Amino acid sequence: MSKHRVSRRQFLTYTLTGVGGFMAAGMLMPMVRFAIDPVLTAEAGGDFIATPLKISDIKAEPQRVDFSFEQKDAWYTSEVTNTAWVYKDDQDNIIALSPVCKHLGCTVAWGTDKEHPEQFFCPCHFGRYEKDGTNVKGTPPIAPLDVYPLQEKDGLLYLGKAEPRTKEA
Ligand code: FES
Repeated sequence: MSKHRVSRRQFLTYTLTGVGGFMAAGMLMPMVRFAIDPVLTAEAGGDFIATPLKISDIKAEPQRVDFSFEQKDAWYTSEVTNTAWVYKDDQDNIIALSPVCKHLGCTVAWGTDKEHPEQFFCPCHFGRYEKDGTNVKGTPPIAPLDVYPLQEKDGLLYLGKAEPRTKEA
């Protein structure tokens, strides 16, 4: 008779452990997959968003452009609306500036300060920026407005993600 006999108790323990483990894995795998799925999904990087602004309608005077896109935040998808101030500079280059003030994040607008109609103005703490987005010295903002990378497609303006500039006043 073999010394390695398996008792009835051991046989039941092995069998139940095996079956239980198999069932647990079957239940857990879909849950784990669901939990990490958005992390594994490849993001469409470097996207440019279409704005409603026609390239031919861009003038020397900055104009406000609102544009919307779907933003995926892991499991949650939401509609986001961004704004840009867009104009053509003296060399006919298109410039698209972020409206987010570099002081505390309020929204700046073009020409709303009567005393400085040719500048961007932030009403929160009277921050001012030149037309090219450079912060005016002596006002609260400490950096120039961010700039959107842009593309032209089918006659429309497409904007990427606004980026900070290195040049300061
Ligand atoms: S938030 Fe714009 S000046 Fe303070």
